[in-house]
Amino acid sequence: MEKIVSLCKRRGFIFQSSEIYGGLSNTWDYGPHGVELKNNLKRAWWKACVYERNDIFGMDAAILMHPKVWESSGHVENFFDLKSDCKGCKKRFKTEDLKNKTKCPECSGDLTESRPFNLMYKTHQGPVEDASNIIYLRPETAQGMFVNFQNILDSKHPKLPFGLAQIGKSFRNEITPGNFTFRTREFEQMEIEYFCRPLDAEKFYETWVTDRFNWYLNLGIKKENLRLRVHAKDELAHYALACTDIEYNFPFGWSELEGIANRADFDLRQHSKISGKELIYFDDQKKEKFYPFVIEPSGGVDRAVLAVLIDAYHEEKVKEDTRIVLKLNKELAPTKVAVFPLLRNRAEIVELAKKIAQDLKKSITTAYDDTGAIGKLYRRQDEVGTLYCVTIDVQTLEDKQVTVRDRDTMLQERIGIDKLKEYFLNKLNIQ
Ligand code: GAP
Repeated sequence: MEKIVSLCKRRGFIFQSSEIYGGLSNTWDYGPHGVELKNNLKRAWWKACVYERNDIFGMDAAILMHPKVWESSGHVENFFDLKSDCKGCKKRFKTEDLKNKTKCPECSGDLTESRPFNLMYKTHQGPVEDASNIIYLRPETAQGMFVNFQNILDSKHPKLPFGLAQIGKSFRNEITPGNFTFRTREFEQMEIEYFCRPLDAEKFYETWVTDRFNWYLNLGIKKENLRLRVHAKDELAHYALACTDIEYNFPFGWSELEGIANRADFDLRQHSKISGKELIYFDDQKKEKFYPFVIEPSGGVDRAVLAVLIDAYHEEKVKEDTRIVLKLNKELAPTKVAVFPLLRNRAEIVELAKKIAQDLKKSITTAYDDTGAIGKLYRRQDEVGTLYCVTIDVQTLEDKQVTVRDRDTMLQERIGIDKLKEYFLNKLNIQ
């Protein structure tokens, strides 16, 4: 993990939040390469889960929702961890992490009784801070989709099965955040609520588990680093009939990337009961009304990005040196092509390199760099996973060809400037 955290900072993927003030613990900012990687990952999810399907609609609901939403969903009552405080050093611990210890693991001080601690961030709507205007930052994006169920039926008239998909920030006042971006208090989720007939729920649950597992494989994550884990009955969330986690073999152990849950009709029923608006499906052929069941594949963007970074990280011996290379797949790599002039002091080479980069930029994510010797420039691009490096040299001025180097094989070939764009579009599979 230390190597990943250090690479992330050194190469502009992820920085500690508010670092100049000593940092806000367990809170992270995505830098220039990090935001591209994260956006590429979200785009890959949206493509697979929305664009390539006929049965899923995208959504983007607000983070702030009516406080009754969280009463109906059970989060006010059930979304808590048990915790104990140390009376001496005042540190707070999750009761399950204490493993029946009766003294503080840090200072051996006395611990308070175990008490429930709600994980939702609470604030106030408007200028007056009293109990009548408490509002929460959403702890899951899911509820924004459930409360819009009727709007989707009225505006899109879908037939079962159909789903809603959204990506967005969620907030949980976690007691034990940590492991870099793995568990944080502010994070991003990518969630699908897939509505189906109750009798079909089991079948779609199985299909979603397989589909989502394969999605991580398609991102390039090694199969041996992924596994499925079925939840035992006593660890299921308050709304779930069944749940399977997709886990990744992180350096700190196998941990959850995504959960696929069968939420049955819990949410639609609850919102119908408490709002008084029936969120029900009418089958106009069979002339029957019922609450659909919901299968929910719910993944964390930050966890997926972390897994992808760890999985792509390679150290290779090249002659006497060690080459660090991020073998990110084509879709995810933040930069696809980097262009360098071999000689920084030859104006015509520099100008030509800049022009080639500028032309490529119109269709391919391309960087231009002339701030170091060629070896250093290659090294920098390898560390951020850039797929191809293009070098413009003296010979280019004569034969109008450039050297293209492949990140993974390090093999080089000469390509005509007039063929370059087409060459990359083919390699990258871009139409
Ligand atoms: N709507 C269901 C739901 O929220 P969850 O298992 O609590 O289920 C889903 O969360 C996913 O969100 C997790 O698999 C994980 O990837 C991500 N996630 C949850 N809590 C997180 C945290 N504190 N930090 C980063 N990601 C988190």
